[in-house]
Amino acid sequence: MCGIIGINSNKSVSASIINSLKKLEYRGYDSAGIATLSSGQINEVKSEGRVDNLEKNSLVQNMEGTIGIGHVRWATHGSPNSLNAHPHSSQNVSVVHNGIIENSTLLKKFLVGKGHKFKSQTDTEVIVHLITEHLKTDDIVNSIKKTLKSLHGSFALGIIFKDQPDLIVGARRGSPLAVGYGPNENYLGSDSYALKSMTNKITYLNDGEFCVIKKDHVEFFSDDGVKINKKVLELSSQEEEYDKGDYKHFMAKEIEEQPLTLKNGIKEYIDNSNNDINIYNFPWKISEISSITLIGCGTAYHSCLMAKYWFEELTSLDVNVDIASEFRYRKNRFKRDSLYIFVSQSGETADTYAALDICKKNGMKTCAVVNVIESSIARDSEFVLPIHCGTEIGVASTKAFLGQILILYILSLKLALLRKDLKKDVFTQKLNDLKKLPKLVDQTLSIDNKIQTISNTFNEAKGSMFLGRGFSYPIALEGALKLKELSYIHAEGYPAGEMKHGPLALIEEGMPVVVLAPRDNYYKKTISNMQEVIARGAKVLLVTNKSKDEIVSENIWETLEVETTNADLLPFLLTIPLQKLAYYSALKKGFDIDKPRNLAKSVTVE
Ligand code: M6R
Repeated sequence: MCGIIGINSNKSVSASIINSLKKLEYRGYDSAGIATLSSGQINEVKSEGRVDNLEKNSLVQNMEGTIGIGHVRWATHGSPNSLNAHPHSSQNVSVVHNGIIENSTLLKKFLVGKGHKFKSQTDTEVIVHLITEHLKTDDIVNSIKKTLKSLHGSFALGIIFKDQPDLIVGARRGSPLAVGYGPNENYLGSDSYALKSMTNKITYLNDGEFCVIKKDHVEFFSDDGVKINKKVLELSSQEEEYDKGDYKHFMAKEIEEQPLTLKNGIKEYIDNSNNDINIYNFPWKISEISSITLIGCGTAYHSCLMAKYWFEELTSLDVNVDIASEFRYRKNRFKRDSLYIFVSQSGETADTYAALDICKKNGMKTCAVVNVIESSIARDSEFVLPIHCGTEIGVASTKAFLGQILILYILSLKLALLRKDLKKDVFTQKLNDLKKLPKLVDQTLSIDNKIQTISNTFNEAKGSMFLGRGFSYPIALEGALKLKELSYIHAEGYPAGEMKHGPLALIEEGMPVVVLAPRDNYYKKTISNMQEVIARGAKVLLVTNKSKDEIVSENIWETLEVETTNADLLPFLLTIPLQKLAYYSALKKGFDIDKPRNLAKSVTVE
């Protein structure tokens, strides 16, 4: 989703801004732009499509200026063309914006009445004209303060001014924003990753704050314009390697990295010498928790749903799962004895963050399961369980999903032991099985060839279904999400037992249906449901685990067998062929696998 960069330096900034915009590309965007200040003029260049297009523009190559802002835009208001790309500028001010201004129509009416002329279809342009209007009577700090007060919605802003050769303003409400410190230069960025090639010294703005960035110092203000002091954090200075290596796509690499994700998680949390799970500094007494509420979006929501099955199976805790965008607007009954767990790869998802914020305001216990440990959700939760899977670039979440469900499984085991819901010998056996999981995932990764052929049938179909029961149901949802987001094929995830209550009507001759039926307690029931769809003409791809027992069913179109382990852990293995199916299907269709259409990696607007 949109990304911001700002640099105030004593040397030319355009190349560094372009470089940092490239670091923000992973978030997903459809246009890019840059504005610098030179000889008292704002120069603005924007282009549709990739940052590469912007970089190749001769105006950018010759762009002068020691102060500037840049942006990658994921369209919300107005189509994704160069006119609507940011920055947006008036004679005096240039602005880049992440987020959505909800009252932009009203503000625009007011500003047009005052004689302001609008060039784009964006909500952002009202910010440019509001600041310009206030600057007629106020200084910069007051103009910013007044402008921010009249905006409804969410924003992270970077602003430069025609008459201010040593000043960038940054402001935040809802969307994340960070300030970075360098030698004789300072920076603004929508995440620390964009700044990492320049600095590891970072300050994060909190909601409502704004800042004035000069070359040699930065001042911070609360929303009422009062100066405040902020901490400078020193992040790890190592820049992670983001190379695709020999892989065609980051997604392919990330799928193959999953055994390592699991090894890292196991190494981090499992104490081999004591056959125990170490969760250090857990801030609550076990007796204070009698229920768990898991909240996330998309794939992270599927992780939450997966965890519900484990928590209910292993512990006596009461478990609820919620989609963040629903949770945030519902009239929730907050429970003092509940632990609220927020699951997010990026740690910046706007809806998940809003749900966290509501829980905090209601005094609830909050825990984040995140990949990006410097993220807003990690910073603002009371307790963090990192998933340690390394940077995930592919918009379709793969290794982060396995990382999330691993940590949630580990947490369910630990709570089960502490609550005495699980006997120590059963716990030890489950830990031993878990330690073998990375190898089993590694072996399962080799079922490639068959899936490549199978994907042809999905590509020719109008639509498809993914069915599972029990532990396999969240995996069916995840498999369907992967297929639809990568290959744009309609895919419906459903509990297999629910088919005859409606969706069976969708089944027609030749429709591909994935049935997840591992040899667990649900196996026989799922096989019966499978027969019902076969009888109505579906082409069933059965995904199960290896077993001595023969599969007793006729007319199965194709079967894929993953490795075998205990029933708790089979969901990890079942996920692999579904990720590969989505990958190969999109590959054959020639789609942009790492950046599927209309989607963003970090969803920072609601
Ligand atoms: O960064 P998060 O885990 O909070 O992101 C949540 C969803 O936007 C994300 O999982 C999305 O559904 C993925 N594109 C799915 O592959």
